[in-house]
Amino acid sequence: MWAIFFILITKHAVFCSNILFIAQLPSPSHYLWNKKLSLELVKNGHNITLVTHDVDKEIINNFTVITLEELNEIEKNRFIMDDLVSDSSIFNYNSKFLSFVDELCQLDIKSDGFKELMNYPVDFKFDLVIFDISNIICLYGLVSKFNSPPIIGVSALTLTPQTFYALANPLYTSYMPYYFTKFTNQMSLIERLLNLVYTWYDFISFGYLSKSRQEGVSKIAFGINSPSIHEMERNISLFLLNYDPILDYPIPLLPNIIPIGGLHAGAPKPLSQDLEIIINNHPHDIIYFALGTNLPPQVLSNNQVEVILKVFAKLPQLVLWKYNGKLSNNVPENVIIRKWFQQNDILAHSKTKLFITHCGALGTQEAMYHGVPMVGIPYFFDQHSNAQKLALKQVAVIFDHNDFTFENFYGVIREVLDNPKYKKNVDFISQMYKRQPQSAMERAVFWIEHVLRYGTVEYLNTPARDMPLYKLYNFDVYLLLICSFSLVGLFIKQITLRLVRTVFPKPVKEKVT
Ligand SMILES: *[C@@H]1O[C@H](CO)[C@@H](O)[C@H](O)[C@H]1NC(C)=O
Ligand SMILES: *[C@@H]1O[C@H](CO)[C@@H](O)[C@H](O)[C@H]1NC(C)=O
Ligand SMILES: *[C@@H]1O[C@H](CO)[C@@H](O)[C@H](O)[C@H]1NC(C)=O
Repeated sequence: MWAIFFILITKHAVFCSNILFIAQLPSPSHYLWNKKLSLELVKNGHNITLVTHDVDKEIINNFTVITLEELNEIEKNRFIMDDLVSDSSIFNYNSKFLSFVDELCQLDIKSDGFKELMNYPVDFKFDLVIFDISNIICLYGLVSKFNSPPIIGVSALTLTPQTFYALANPLYTSYMPYYFTKFTNQMSLIERLLNLVYTWYDFISFGYLSKSRQEGVSKIAFGINSPSIHEMERNISLFLLNYDPILDYPIPLLPNIIPIGGLHAGAPKPLSQDLEIIINNHPHDIIYFALGTNLPPQVLSNNQVEVILKVFAKLPQLVLWKYNGKLSNNVPENVIIRKWFQQNDILAHSKTKLFITHCGALGTQEAMYHGVPMVGIPYFFDQHSNAQKLALKQVAVIFDHNDFTFENFYGVIREVLDNPKYKKNVDFISQMYKRQPQSAMERAVFWIEHVLRYGTVEYLNTPARDMPLYKLYNFDVYLLLICSFSLVGLFIKQITLRLVRTVFPKPVKEKVT
C-alpha cells in the first residue's frame, strides 16, 4: 500500500516539473522546432518557460514565452543578404555569424525579457534547464541564477562541430564534412585537408574566441564571480541532437548524445478548407516551393521571379509558392502564392510530388519523412552541405541560383518529376525512418524525463570529457614511443659499432695512414 502511494508521489513529481527552455538562436524555423518539443512536454504535464527572440501570441496552458530582444527585420535581412549570399567563403560565414552572436548577446542582456527572468524570486525553482546550444550560449548563467538544476542541451542544427566539443564526441574530419562546406562524407585528399583546416578554424574561432567573448558578456550580466562557460558546459547532462543516421550520414555518437532527428516532422493536420478545395479541384499533382524562413524575398531578383513564373506556367501541376515579397508580375493560374503554408501538412499530402527548397535542415528532413523528392537551391550556411548530402542520397537535384535560366530551372524540375529514381530513393528513406520502435519525439521525452528522475546522468560520460586534448589523442604516448625508439635505436647503434671495432680492430685503420 505504502509502496503504491510512494510510486504515485514520485511519478507525480516527475510528470509535473517546471522546465526553463533557453533558445537564443534567432530563427523562426528553430523556434517552431523548440516549440514543438515544448508542447509535447506540456502534453506530458510539465510547465515550460521558453526564452527566445520570437514573439508568440498563442495562449497555451503551462507554456510561457519570454521574448528577449526582438530582432529588427531590416537589420536581419541586411546581415544575411549583403554579407552571406555575395561572399560564400567559409571564413566569411564563420566570422559574420560570430560577430552577429556578439551583438546579439549584448542586446539580450539589456532586453526586457532578460530583466523579467532576473526578477524571478530568489527561491523560484526550475527542475531542469533545456539549453539550445546552437552557438549562442551567453545566458548559461541563468542556470546558476536558478540554483543549478540539471541541464540538457538541444540543437535543431544537425552536425556542427560545436555540438561535439563539450561532450568530446569523436570528430573524424576524414568523413564528417564541416557544415558550411560543399563536401560530402566522400572527400578527396585536398577536401580532407580543407575540411581539417575549417574544423580546426571553427574550434578556435568558436570554441575559444567566441566563447571567451560570450563569457565576458556573461560576467557583465551575472557578476564577476559567476561560473565560467566551461564549467557550465561540463554540467550538461545530455545532448538531444537533430540528427538521424537514416536522414544524415552515419557517424559514431556517444551514449549521452541522443539522436532525435526529424522530431518536428509527423502526421499531418488537416489543411485549411480553401486550400483543400483548390487542391481537390486541380486535376494534377502539387509542387511546393519555399525558401524557408530566414531568406528574405529580395534574394530572388525581378528577372529570376520572371523566369520562375514562366517555368511554372509551362507545368501542368498546381504550384504552391511560399513568398512574402511584393509581385507586380502576372501570376499563372496554376500558381498559388501565399506568405505562409502549413509546410509539414502540404509535404504530407499524397498529391505533393516535388519540393523546391533552399535545403534548410528542417524542411529537407520533413520532405524525407513524407517521401517527397527535391530540387535544392542552397544559398548559405549549412544549406550547401545539406544539398550535397541529398544529392549523394539521390533524392534531390541541386540547382545553382547563379544559373537562373528558363532551360536550367525547367530542366531540373522535369528531371526530378520524370526520373522515378528520386521518388523511389526518398520513399525508401521515409519507410526506414518511420519504422522504428520509438519515434524521435518519444525518445526526446523519454530522455528528458530520465534526467528529471535521475539527475545529471553522470554515468553516461566517457572519461574523454575531462581529458585534455593531448591525453585524449595520446600525444604523450606517441612522444614516449618516439623517445623509446630513439633510445633503443641509439643503443643498437652503439652496440653495433663496438662489435664492428672488436671484429675489425684498429690496425686496419693504421695501415691506411
Ligand atoms: C498545468 O495546467 C493544468 C491545467 O491548467 C494544471 O492543473 C496543472 O497544475 C499545470 N501543471 C503545472 C506543472 O503547472
Ligand atoms: C509555470 O511557469 C510560469 C512561467 O515561468 C511561472 O510563472 C509559473 O509559476 C509556473 N508554474 C508552476 C506551477 O510552477
Ligand atoms: C554543476 O552541477 C552541480 C551538481 O548539480 C552543482 O552543484 C554545481 O553548482 C554546478 N556547477 C555550475 C557551474 O553550475
